[in-house]
Amino acid sequence: MEKIHEMIEKVLKEEALIDCVLSNIRKKDPEIYQKVTIRPLILKEDKVYQFTYSYQKKVMHENLKKEEMLEKVMVLFEQFKQGQFFTKDADYQILISKKFKVKILKKPPTKKATNLEHNRKKKYILSEGEPNPFLIRLGVMNEKGKVLSKKFDKFRQINRFLEMVEDIMPYLKKKDKGVNIIDFGCGKSYLTFALYHYLVEVSKLNVNIIGLDLKKDVIEHCNELAKDLGYDDLKFMIGDIEHFTGADKVDMVVTLHACDTATDAALTKAIGWDADVILSVPCCQHELFKQIHNDVMKPILKHGILKERMSAIVTDSIRANILEIMGYQAQILEFIDMEHTPKNLLIRAVKTNKVTQEAIEEYKKLKTFLSIDPYFERALGDGLKRKL
Ligand SMILES: C[S@@+](CC[C@H](N)C(=O)[O-])C[C@H]1O[C@@H](n2cnc3c(N)ncnc32)[C@H](O)[C@@H]1O
Repeated sequence: MEKIHEMIEKVLKEEALIDCVLSNIRKKDPEIYQKVTIRPLILKEDKVYQFTYSYQKKVMHENLKKEEMLEKVMVLFEQFKQGQFFTKDADYQILISKKFKVKILKKPPTKKATNLEHNRKKKYILSEGEPNPFLIRLGVMNEKGKVLSKKFDKFRQINRFLEMVEDIMPYLKKKDKGVNIIDFGCGKSYLTFALYHYLVEVSKLNVNIIGLDLKKDVIEHCNELAKDLGYDDLKFMIGDIEHFTGADKVDMVVTLHACDTATDAALTKAIGWDADVILSVPCCQHELFKQIHNDVMKPILKHGILKERMSAIVTDSIRANILEIMGYQAQILEFIDMEHTPKNLLIRAVKTNKVTQEAIEEYKKLKTFLSIDPYFERALGDGLKRKL
């Protein structure tokens, strides 16, 4: 055990610990923790080591100073047969036999040190306490920057959306005349204003954003708001996504909670423009509910609620798959939905022009297996047919 003490002491002295896991407990008792992870973090300006004890149905935390940390780990090693220490310079695997014989294996490091400041608290792109004119006008925060309690979910949703936007920034190619962006089904446009604020005021990008929606009163209100805020390159238009002809070339298409096949209409437009980036949060995926049929899956499909969920999953997988066939790299990520319902997925697609035969085969097989004829395929017409 002395060897372990020596190794950890050295790692702590060099401030090199990234994190570690103690596992393979000697006594398999559901009442006690089965695994312990330890990571350094900054708490109130001090560095501490946070121990996370994982029980069968709960986790407990304990924060210890450096001096106490070593002592505690040594006590824990009486209970565990294995330890994995990830440090800046090496990974150490500690193996302790039944008779407490110790073996330490040293391997090249596999983890990068994280900024401990990041572990301190979730850093939002928009911060509470910093009054922001667009958030004040939309009624999310007051003049002092305090987020109204009933709008806190909205505030989190806006921040989550901006994190997604931050991630796709490398794919947005700068254009002399500005990057053209459309938000289809913008509604009250919390996220459209946030997007403009982030791209123009924070990232200093030259952009033209259009928000499109069917609702005349909402669009008029949003145009007034954009004018008041001095958001000169943000315009709102009334119209139906499918028949929109107000732009020749669009670089990024956003469509958040546009119901049912309105999402497909938006994705079809995006593909038609060869948009570099698409961010889409679908909802109300009803179309395939009436179509899906498969005898093998009868035990699932005979229950309305499961069929509904299955239809939504199939709809979004097909969307991602068709995007792949059309030359996009598509991912499905978790988003925050206001009602915390299962409608919390985001399709993120970036243009790569790489198409694999695999994506085409997968799509054809799934279509046949479930006897479906998706609107998205029909909307894309010959453009997709040629590839199948
Ligand atoms: C649930 S709201 C979402 C608003 C906003 N995007 C958000 O996520 O907060 C859906 C919006 O899409 C609009 N919409 C639905 N179908 C549309 C279509 N075919 N063309 C244009 N807008 C549409 C609706 O009018 C509504 O305002």
